[in-house]
Amino acid sequence: MANILIIYSTTDGHTRSICERLQNHVAAQHTVELVAMAEQPGIDLEPFDKIVIGASIRYGKHQPEVFDFIRRNQATLESKPSAFFSVNVVARKPEKNTPETNPYLQKFLRKIDWAPQNLAVFAGKIDYPRYDFMDRTMIRFIMWMTKGPTDPTLTIEFTDWNKVDEFARTVTEM
Ligand SMILES: Cc1cc2nc3c(=O)[nH]c(=O)nc-3n(C[C@H](O)[C@H](O)[C@H](O)COP(=O)(O)O)c2cc1C
Repeated sequence: MANILIIYSTTDGHTRSICERLQNHVAAQHTVELVAMAEQPGIDLEPFDKIVIGASIRYGKHQPEVFDFIRRNQATLESKPSAFFSVNVVARKPEKNTPETNPYLQKFLRKIDWAPQNLAVFAGKIDYPRYDFMDRTMIRFIMWMTKGPTDPTLTIEFTDWNKVDEFARTVTEM
């Protein structure tokens, strides 16, 4: 039984939902701690045997806290089995939903020095009623450009939960 940390960066909570699903699976065989990066940016990674980081995309980027966290913990991250996953809505497109084909994940890997052994990308959620006017307008525009749903009353979850469960098996065995 290993001690696994799942730490996430989220704005609207969907990455946390994905982490909770991972936790539910992985906890059958390991001890799992789920932590919000924003709440514990200085968490000590030493007590953990394996580390999973999940982060969402907003306006083309993962949050600065993700880069800071990785930079601060680089040596420890490199010394343990690890995984990283990205959540974004571009990944709803079949041709952009793997670590190799998702542009945000590829850009992220080019920007950091850490090389996680396991990678995943999951399609996120659009929750128009929740957004403020500016964000709703911007996301509708992006969706219109990329032939996605633009009805401002809709909440759409693009996440393939079977894929999340598959990744949970990878994390269990890593
Ligand atoms: C203001 C805003 C900007 C976003 N920008 C992008 C983007 O540039 N590319 C993309 O693929 N998804 C984008 N998304 C979609 C998010 O990645 C998606 O909603 C995800 O599920 C958010 O996860 P979170 O709730 O953990 O933050 C954006 C969402 C919002 C609300």
